[in-house]
Amino acid sequence: MDPEGMSDGEWRQVMDAMEDVGPYYERVNWLMTFGMVDRWRKRVASFAGPDDVVLEIGSGPGNFTKHLRSKTVFALEPSSELSDISKEILDPERVTLFKGVGEKIPLADSSVDKVFCVFSFRDFFDRKAGADEMIRVLRDGGEVFIVDMAKPPPGPLAKMLEFHVKHMVPPLTRLAVPSVARERWSRDPYRTFVDTYEAYGSTKVYEDLLERTGFDDVSTEYLELKGATMTRGKKPRKSTC
Ligand SMILES: C[S@@+](CC[C@H](N)C(=O)[O-])C[C@H]1O[C@@H](n2cnc3c(N)ncnc32)[C@H](O)[C@@H]1O
Repeated sequence: MDPEGMSDGEWRQVMDAMEDVGPYYERVNWLMTFGMVDRWRKRVASFAGPDDVVLEIGSGPGNFTKHLRSKTVFALEPSSELSDISKEILDPERVTLFKGVGEKIPLADSSVDKVFCVFSFRDFFDRKAGADEMIRVLRDGGEVFIVDMAKPPPGPLAKMLEFHVKHMVPPLTRLAVPSVARERWSRDPYRTFVDTYEAYGSTKVYEDLLERTGFDDVSTEYLELKGATMTRGKKPRKSTC
């Protein structure tokens, strides 16, 4: 694993970890973010207007998708097991679930207004290919939003977050997941979560990647309590002269 992506074998391990934790996913998220995760998701979802055509990449069990109020939402997810969980909470009138990866989005060029990648971009096996696909499917002037666990520059906050992810998250998982489920795991899924957190580099890596891909106005902001960040960028409008 490195800031650009990971091998096929590593990606399979990430997917297995996500599927292992699927039924307990939100309980663990809630514990490890001290209840903040849904507040972050709601704030990010508020950037999509009712008339925007929205694509969420890596929708998993649907915990971000359910906050989107747009009339047309495409939710792309590679795992059928996880998207089956999401069917229980999503409105089929507005949300179209489909199977696939962010590196090869099954949508036409310039067909969406907003792309959201919430806690999923660092799981991509090829992030540059993913960013190329995002800019392809966005309309001119459309926006991408990438949310991930915060990776601040070296300093006290970075140390605190690293300690939290490495040393607090695995025991919190053990609290949230019943022992019968844990006994079926060949590897603690949250070890894989720590691996992807360590490997993703930093928010600066996401910003550089979006800029290299051709996005304008790239910026990052902390979400409440600085536990997560949102990096955004705009697909340039073609000049008319
Ligand atoms: C941590 S979950 C995030 C789920 C949801 N967005 C949320 O806010 O809770 C990451 C999701 O990304 C998906 N994922 C992993 N690799 C992907 C890829 N290459 N393309 C699209 N989604 C991917 C996983 O299957 C998983 O559902």
